[in-house]
Amino acid sequence: MKTDWYKNAVVYQVYPFSFMDGNNDGWGDIPGILSKLDHIKELGATAVWFSPLYRSPDFDYGYDVSDYRSIDGKFGTMADFDTLLSACHKRDLKVIMDMVLNHTSTEHPWFREAISSKDSPYRDYYIIREGIRKGRKLLPPSNWQSTFTGSAWERIGESDEFYLHLFCREQADLNWENPRVREEIADILDFWLAKGVDGFRFDVFNMFSKVFPIRDDREKHTFQKGAQFFVDGPRMHEFLRELNEKVFSRYDSYTVGESFHPSPEAARAYVKRENRELDSIFSFAHLDSDNIGGKKFFRKPFDLLQFKDGLFGPQRDNYEDGWNTLVLENHDNPRSVDRFSIDSGKYRYEAATMLAAVVFMGFGTPFIYMGEEAGLTNCAFTSIEQMKDPVSHFVYDLMTRCGMPRKLAFSFIRYGARDHARVPMAWDDTANGGFNGGHPTWQCVNPRFREINVRKDRDAERSVFRFYQKLLAIRKSSETAIMGKTEEYDHGNRRIVAYSRTFGDDRLFVCANFSPRPVRYVLPPWVKGARVLLDNYGQYQRGEASVALSPYQALIFEEA
Ligand code: GLC
Repeated sequence: MKTDWYKNAVVYQVYPFSFMDGNNDGWGDIPGILSKLDHIKELGATAVWFSPLYRSPDFDYGYDVSDYRSIDGKFGTMADFDTLLSACHKRDLKVIMDMVLNHTSTEHPWFREAISSKDSPYRDYYIIREGIRKGRKLLPPSNWQSTFTGSAWERIGESDEFYLHLFCREQADLNWENPRVREEIADILDFWLAKGVDGFRFDVFNMFSKVFPIRDDREKHTFQKGAQFFVDGPRMHEFLRELNEKVFSRYDSYTVGESFHPSPEAARAYVKRENRELDSIFSFAHLDSDNIGGKKFFRKPFDLLQFKDGLFGPQRDNYEDGWNTLVLENHDNPRSVDRFSIDSGKYRYEAATMLAAVVFMGFGTPFIYMGEEAGLTNCAFTSIEQMKDPVSHFVYDLMTRCGMPRKLAFSFIRYGARDHARVPMAWDDTANGGFNGGHPTWQCVNPRFREINVRKDRDAERSVFRFYQKLLAIRKSSETAIMGKTEEYDHGNRRIVAYSRTFGDDRLFVCANFSPRPVRYVLPPWVKGARVLLDNYGQYQRGEASVALSPYQALIFEEA
């Protein structure tokens, strides 16, 4: 029986490497997570999504899986995971597993088998093609560039064949055309659901189906990625329906897909209820409002109208016959208080709480990334060597190879790096921010941990955490906050974000000053008599028809 529990859920994302190190070896682990479950519960989350915990050689920090039915030794054992699962369930926290099924690690037994001989039955689990001979040169089967820079094809030893990898060369793309691959995948999902987990987050799911035969990308782009041949591919909907029918429909499970720049039509179709594909997908369009063309490292002045388009578009598109998600941060983005032209030195509390009110009072399931609930900031990296994410290095190398001065290249990387969100959690002001007992950590800790940490925030008079608690309590208890239809106001206003949520006769109104200057905002007539449910300043000046909003002030009203 499907209960649609995800509709009033609040999901908290744990990046296991950096959440909490229980055995003081420098890496986060399951015993560490267990010791912090109460923090997640106290916040008001109702579900936890764990970034990959499976065995992995960690070329892409867990997103290169070498055994989908295991727990990596650095995080603990399967018995530890079982304890974690029941500890979550005991606290009424659902568990969402990360499923990385566009590719496997090249250390996965399937891949090892596949390349061991041309006759291996596993050969067709991957996308392996002959290279193109040009005189004495052997060129890859197509000109596609990997999402992580360089050719998307890697030669298999000294042979004439190459395998496709849309990400690192250690992440070989699976061939979803092969029914045996899809059976294996259904079995893996079934394994985890039978264990009792409650749902899945699917990594870059809209790349599963590729266009065959493989051909060159001849469109004009900065990089020939071949995206038109693997994003929202021809069999995407069929593959998802098959999994839904075989697996998801048999459990009270929830699915959320991480999409890679989907077309608006495809994005709607993936979550349309009657299509029986996924329950929801992530939409990140608003997070590209401070970069050029979705390229994280290339900063541009923040564009609030683009942010609003990205935030409200999916709420509108999926209202009638789908579901939506609400995201501000994850392990692939810098911290939100250091983006969108915000000066976190001056307005950290105000901006963190304003962003939460604006994003998480919308239509959809909120996803909160660890540390976001305490307004954690970016890390002041001083050199590329401090960064662990391979993507930071790949892009830095590409920039400097193209002649960009090192300092400039590093400043770009530092702006958009995924590393910011991946440094160990700053829990308190003890050694290593309380992440562990003082053992050197796999990734440097944020040098500001004494000044900005979870305990300090929770104890502060103006606490981001306590604001989140209040906000999430409203979200979970108000039917209007859960089911209401979003209507945006004053779209063209370049300082203010304003919207209503309507359900039956009840209405909520959110308005926020998304700027460092005070703004007077004229309220819609129906809001004049409304009561203020939440305010991140604790005081506001309300006139006859308008309200004076301080820098980054946010107010939530409820119609009387
Ligand atoms: C997703 C993950 C990211 C990973 C990539 C390849 O975007 O969120 O961390 O590097 O897929 O698996």
